[in-house]
Amino acid sequence: TTERSSTTGTAPVLVASNRGPVSFGTADDGSLTLRRGGGGLVSGLSAIGDPNAVWVCAALGDADRRAAREAPHGRLDLAGHDVGGQAVRMLDIDPETFSRAYNGVANSTLWFVHHLLYATPTAPSFDAGFRTEWAAYEAYNAAFADALAAEAAGNAAVLVQDYHLSLAPALLRARRPDLRIGHFSHTPWAPPEYYRLLPDDVARAVLTGILGADRAGFLTERWARAFAACCEAVLGATVDHDALTVTHEGRTTRLGVHALGADADFLRERAHRPDVDERLAALRAAVGERRTVVRVDRTELSKNIVRGLQAYRHLLRTRPEWHDRVVHIAFAYPSRTDLAEYRAYTAAVRRLAEEIDAEFATPGWQPLILHVDDDFPRSLAAYRLADVALVNPIRDGMNLVAKEVPVVSDHGCALVLSREAGAHAELAEDALSVNPYDVIATADALHAGLTMPAGERADRTKRLAAAATALPPQQWFLDQLNAL
Ligand code: F6P
Repeated sequence: TTERSSTTGTAPVLVASNRGPVSFGTADDGSLTLRRGGGGLVSGLSAIGDPNAVWVCAALGDADRRAAREAPHGRLDLAGHDVGGQAVRMLDIDPETFSRAYNGVANSTLWFVHHLLYATPTAPSFDAGFRTEWAAYEAYNAAFADALAAEAAGNAAVLVQDYHLSLAPALLRARRPDLRIGHFSHTPWAPPEYYRLLPDDVARAVLTGILGADRAGFLTERWARAFAACCEAVLGATVDHDALTVTHEGRTTRLGVHALGADADFLRERAHRPDVDERLAALRAAVGERRTVVRVDRTELSKNIVRGLQAYRHLLRTRPEWHDRVVHIAFAYPSRTDLAEYRAYTAAVRRLAEEIDAEFATPGWQPLILHVDDDFPRSLAAYRLADVALVNPIRDGMNLVAKEVPVVSDHGCALVLSREAGAHAELAEDALSVNPYDVIATADALHAGLTMPAGERADRTKRLAAAATALPPQQWFLDQLNAL
């Protein structure tokens, strides 16, 4: 439906995203338990401290759905929970529609396109099954547009997030032309020649959906320009490359670049709490006097964990002087396990880790510590301990690990960083840049990091931390709001 609403809501500021600031679980006694999420948006929205702000998100599992159903008018009762002050409206989208939109279109299609993840001789294949998923994605976006239209006060500012919600801005504008609408992409954007592998109508719908916004935000200029290039190539839109605007069918959308930074205050405080100290002591005991190479990722295809492990293996094969003198601490947390590709990738990571252990481990030396269970305080402990951080994604919208490590590092840490990560635009000068596909070059960079003089490492880390915290999440959010 594209009908205009006759009534308006009361929220002057709204955020819409697939994953919300809270999620629910079920306790042993059957009651609901609440967990607060992290990330830039959560601290950004709480910074404006407006109790009338509303966050619209999807219910992601059974416990979320129950909470959404039990909530009066869909608004969760968060009284007594420290979740930042705003109201949360969780959408109870039916599980099949949700799964087709989230797994089928958002994560298996749009995410793959923007991160260049397809092995194109066999994938993608846009068949009848995809069309069912696409219809679900349209319905999912319409459900968000309906909820936002109902919640927004006249002339309200609405900040729509990410590739799950690329159709929502145009759908919302049709319902509520009075609103100021922003969209923000947390992913890279594909170059036109790759983007065009989407079916033509889908490629157009995603672009015109985002162009329904007054402003479309990106993490780097590179991704903003790729979006503009897709608008030119696919829609025949007019792009002003200096002003960074896209004009299509009489409307102009401004593109903005907002390079989300690390939250230094939060990280420094959190990284020195007792639970982190405890885990740091345990890691130190396991590592001893040896050097450390640390990586922390979701087990995500784009994070390039397998080539990272191959690079470490190459280092140990070609530079035996590192035997018994280095430990690779690799945290690869579960992610998107509903998708077969992610399960296969997780298995590949584990297999390679076992091979490395079998090839090099000695009774006194464990060359690789792999943890696959998510533990945030342990990640912070590893950040503090790291001599070298390995961040080698195939492609990444930003990559906050690259920005967080220098902020909490205890004694300075060399950063091996993929030139395809958004963060590279700001950190290149003091990082060791790598082509993420080049395993040998990555091994060389690890060696360079491990042998970097302590003084140089500390100096570079200081400069990296300054660059990484230039735009804290609160300011990142406010900038977008003000620009609207
Ligand atoms: O933009 C990418 C993103 O939405 C990030 O904000 C987050 O790191 C990740 O994807 C989470 O993915 P999911 O919600 O599918 O677990």
